[in-house]
Amino acid sequence: MPTQSKSLHLPFGEDKNAPWYGKDILSVKQFAREDLEYVFGVAHEMRGMVERVGTFDLLKGKILANLFYEPSTRTSSSFTAAMERLGGSVIPINEVKYSSVSKGESLPDTIRTLECYADVIVLRHPETGSAAIAAKAAKKPVINAGDGVGEHPTQALLDAFTIFEELGVGEIDGMTVTMLGDLKYGRTVHSLARLLSLYNVKINYVSPEILRMPQEVMEEVAAKGIPQAEFSTLQEVLPQTDVLYVTRVQQERFENQKDYEKVKGAYVIDPQVMQAAKQEMIVMHPLPRVGEISPEFDEDPRAAYFRQMEYGLYVRMALLAMVLGKA
Ligand code: NCD
Repeated sequence: MPTQSKSLHLPFGEDKNAPWYGKDILSVKQFAREDLEYVFGVAHEMRGMVERVGTFDLLKGKILANLFYEPSTRTSSSFTAAMERLGGSVIPINEVKYSSVSKGESLPDTIRTLECYADVIVLRHPETGSAAIAAKAAKKPVINAGDGVGEHPTQALLDAFTIFEELGVGEIDGMTVTMLGDLKYGRTVHSLARLLSLYNVKINYVSPEILRMPQEVMEEVAAKGIPQAEFSTLQEVLPQTDVLYVTRVQQERFENQKDYEKVKGAYVIDPQVMQAAKQEMIVMHPLPRVGEISPEFDEDPRAAYFRQMEYGLYVRMALLAMVLGKA
């Protein structure tokens, strides 16, 4: 469910009664199943509009502050593209070292600054909970683009949208989703497992022992009555898998680099491994990949990870339009 609406000054033409108007997007826990249907409906329309006209003026005159304290290619550029395809513009702050952050400015002060100039703020930050701190400081909507090992809600929404678009609406129910790789530090799988627990899915976790899915996430998913099981090898579950969600081992989160060296090449998806999988299934990855999926698999129709990036554009267009009262 959306959190309480922030009181925004209302320029002409915005619908303050729109359900997500002025809301922050901090966690997938804010979304119920009907909210997802709504997001996916809007994203689907955005896709149609981009295919037909490319760019249109839904958010003309609106400004997004894209504030990234951690590296990003897809998330940052897809939010930029989303805003510009909707006729808005972007203040990009990708290198916080060139901003006042390097002078020691606090996150709340940086947020208060940016909201003087922008209508919505997208934030990526290395600390879990930072998006919530930013949202508390801000009167304008804040969208969490990854808070440390915490959550990455817009990625999970685009991941779920990818499953819908690729495998057919309504078919998330009944699916077996296998998450592979770094389930401990990977924020995308933390968000995705929680989000998928809104459906009748079965979730498998395949990881090295030291990178298992956090207990906290598994307990939340279990509370929704979702069957989950943990494995150390992919072979045990690959033949039953409908969605294989591969992740990168998050080197930057390891306290001890020797531990990283031990697990970095633990799983590699290639055409040979995929012989054991169904023909009707998809392989997803939030990207970047650093060896977990061989490029030799890219031409396989089941390789959905490049299409997944494109779905991200439509979902982020939908979310921006929603929080700015235009959807
Ligand atoms: C992910 C992230 O930043 O959490 N990337 C992304 O947003 N597409 C995954 C990763 O970095 O491994």
